[in-house]
Amino acid sequence: MIQDFGVLPDGTTVREITLKKGPLEASVLTYGAIIRDLKVDGQSVTLGFEDLQSYLDHSPYFGAVVGRCANRIAGGNLTVDGVGYQLDLNDNGRHHLHGGSLGFSARNWQLEQHDKASVLLKLVSEDGDMGYPGQVEALLRYTLTGAGALRVKMTATTSATTPVNLTQHAYFNLDGSADILDHTLEIAADRYLPVDEALIPTGEIRKVAWTPYDFQEGRKLRRKPGEQGVLYDHNFCLVDAPAQELAFAAALEDGAGSRRMEVWTTEPGLQLFDAEGMDVPVPGLAGKRYGAHAGLCLEAQRWPDGVNQKEFMDVLLRPGETYSHATEFRFS
Ligand code: GAL
Repeated sequence: MIQDFGVLPDGTTVREITLKKGPLEASVLTYGAIIRDLKVDGQSVTLGFEDLQSYLDHSPYFGAVVGRCANRIAGGNLTVDGVGYQLDLNDNGRHHLHGGSLGFSARNWQLEQHDKASVLLKLVSEDGDMGYPGQVEALLRYTLTGAGALRVKMTATTSATTPVNLTQHAYFNLDGSADILDHTLEIAADRYLPVDEALIPTGEIRKVAWTPYDFQEGRKLRRKPGEQGVLYDHNFCLVDAPAQELAFAAALEDGAGSRRMEVWTTEPGLQLFDAEGMDVPVPGLAGKRYGAHAGLCLEAQRWPDGVNQKEFMDVLLRPGETYSHATEFRFS
């Protein structure tokens, strides 16, 4: 099913495509390639809004695809083949975040194709977009699979060497509770990236063992005694390079243990963000209020600030190459 969702300030129409397969139903917007709502057996498992204006005014990237480069780039400084570029400084005027103020999450993607269970969207990001060199063409396909998963498949090509690091920024809450602190999370990472006060990786790659970042055996998001003040807004190091095949990255279970979601991805990193500071001033899906920890993000991507970190994997895409990323959110 496809319908109009609203009109952007530039006069273009945002369309909403509803996909259905088995127990899953996904509403996808052309704006930001946003998963507006994802239902499993009729229950919403992501955060979102009912109207376009709330997305324009208040969305902390709910369900959006962020790019050209997800996460932060320190000082918005990019050097490619010895040439320096200044990227849009949309993070407190000091750093570059999620591709800039008009990044992929704030663009109206072109609807290329759709059927009952899948949709293909395309975005052309011009040479110089948000400060980045090269024209990038991105393709994104969402598919609801017969096995109860939402599959996200993204590819991109470029006319000049530029960083590309896309991610799906859905906020999950599997049981509709006020916060996800009693959800149990497992992450298949034995290392994570400590950050500085601006949330930018320091460059150190630290073992999770004996830290509050050890999710290898599964633990609740609720901080343990003595862990007050621990922030979850970090990249977990799954592996050291992107892969061709999907690998298990994480599992999330609701408080009662009755719903489980697994994240499988080709990406080497997973950013955990549990939205401690969330305080959305307008109602969300079905009139819900979203406060602290209302949902959490599990953003599969290449390690953040890769353009400035010599020890991290390359995030540059060159002409003739194809960037490729697949992530599946599997429900049971
Ligand atoms: C996350 C990021 C957070 C915050 C959030 C959007 O991906 O790690 O620091 O910027 O997006 O509110």
